[in-house]
Amino acid sequence: MKPHLILIGYMGSGKSTLGCAVSYPLQQCFIDTDRWIELKEGMTVSEIFAAHGEDYFRQKETECLKTMLLEKEPRVLALGGGTPLRMENRELMKKLGFTVYLQAEPETIYQRLKDDRTRPLLQCGDPRARIEQMIRERDPIYRAAADHILRVDDWDTKRLINELQEAYRHETAGDQWTQS
Ligand code: S3P
Repeated sequence: MKPHLILIGYMGSGKSTLGCAVSYPLQQCFIDTDRWIELKEGMTVSEIFAAHGEDYFRQKETECLKTMLLEKEPRVLALGGGTPLRMENRELMKKLGFTVYLQAEPETIYQRLKDDRTRPLLQCGDPRARIEQMIRERDPIYRAAADHILRVDDWDTKRLINELQEAYRHETAGDQWTQS
């Protein structure tokens, strides 16, 4: 089977927007893993964090990836920003498909998320500093987990869709994925 196309990156990097947009030309269903977990749990991400804590949510992310291994058709998957931090998840991602890191500068993210109330990890006194620190820690992990990196500071949906499709086509042109 063709690999899933997996988008990773920090909160607000545009994984869901671009994933949904590219799913049309690729004719592959789009799955946002945060929404998948919310539907399964019957709660928003913020409610899950408040009721059960972050570790519980992280467990749900791993369960979600394991379930994605059972999908019979290639999908476009937008993962939560923290999903690649667990080694177990990174190993699952390798089995699942082709991973693209949407890389954005901290200032870009801050401008996009400064009024957002849906990300529990950013509801703090100094979200700009939190974003800078988290991106510094996470960027090397995202890079190591990615097969391809797309810079998304200058957002242009059409261009990004084309670049993403091109990278994915290039990957799926070989026979590495058709054997399993
Ligand atoms: C998180 C990212 C969020 C969501 C949760 C934790 C993170 O997803 O999973 O709030 O640790 O980066 P998005 O990246 O889709 O915002």
